[in-house]
Amino acid sequence: MNNRLAKFKDLVPSTLPFVEGKMDGHKERKNYSIVGPGVAEDSKQFVKIAMPHSFNLGAVSAMPKNGSGLHSHTTAEVFIIYSGKWKFYWGAEGKDETILSTGDIISMPTNMFRAFENVGDEEGLIFVVLGGDDPGIITWVPSVLEKAKKTGMALLNDNSLIDLSLNEIPKGKTILKPISEEEIKKFDNYKLDQIEKFICKNNENSKQINKMKDNFDLIQILGNKFENKEYAPLINQDTGFNLSILKCNKGQITNLKFEKPTILFSRTGKWEIMIDDFQCILNPKDTISIPINSNVNIKINEQENCYLNCVTQI
Ligand SMILES: [Fe+2]
Repeated sequence: MNNRLAKFKDLVPSTLPFVEGKMDGHKERKNYSIVGPGVAEDSKQFVKIAMPHSFNLGAVSAMPKNGSGLHSHTTAEVFIIYSGKWKFYWGAEGKDETILSTGDIISMPTNMFRAFENVGDEEGLIFVVLGGDDPGIITWVPSVLEKAKKTGMALLNDNSLIDLSLNEIPKGKTILKPISEEEIKKFDNYKLDQIEKFICKNNENSKQINKMKDNFDLIQILGNKFENKEYAPLINQDTGFNLSILKCNKGQITNLKFEKPTILFSRTGKWEIMIDDFQCILNPKDTISIPINSNVNIKINEQENCYLNCVTQI
């Protein structure tokens, strides 16, 4: 079971995960692959839980005024703000934006350029759930690739990252060309009110609490299932996974069973997890992957309500 447990303190982040990683505004950032490889362009990115789950979990931390450049994905990308104050902006020119803080969640549509920046005063951390076993490659807006090249960084035509200040372009390979104006037009754009439908603010979570047994509450964010029961989600979007949040201060919930790949990761609180005869403690930011159809007990004993995220395949 230890290969299913990801203690945050044991993770090894990439400090140059993407092509824009040496640019001002992007270089003071760390990228973590917790479940699955994610979309990191760094071929040496450490992956803690490698077995396929049909989704990926990663995390990004960045210092103030740092974040990601504008890029698009072919699968779902859901951001769960763990700490800090972040600006998310989108569209080929990144004109539309919203500010999110601790506990807020945004599910970005596919085929749309998006980026984010830490606009707080301290280092902040975001968890990111990506759809699919292989979330594929990301597409950058041309200006990111052009500016990155001035720092020595480029992508090759097989989408691998190269530092041109240290390495020659390997034989048979070429530098990836930025996409054309025509190709840019094929990407979608959304107005703020359209994107707001895919945002769940922390203070709106309590709008739709599902009472469970033993003092536990369930907040259904994405997808309509937790275990084998149906719940109405706060965000209606097909991502391929369910995202649920368990909320409790003191209590124990027993005999949970998940028929699909499932992970639990703590946002706040110290959670005691029993999976068959394996026991572990999930501190904030720690993740456990649950084998299908095992028997799961979850216990917590805290002064305040705490939050445990759960992602399961649909
Ligand atoms: Fe992304």
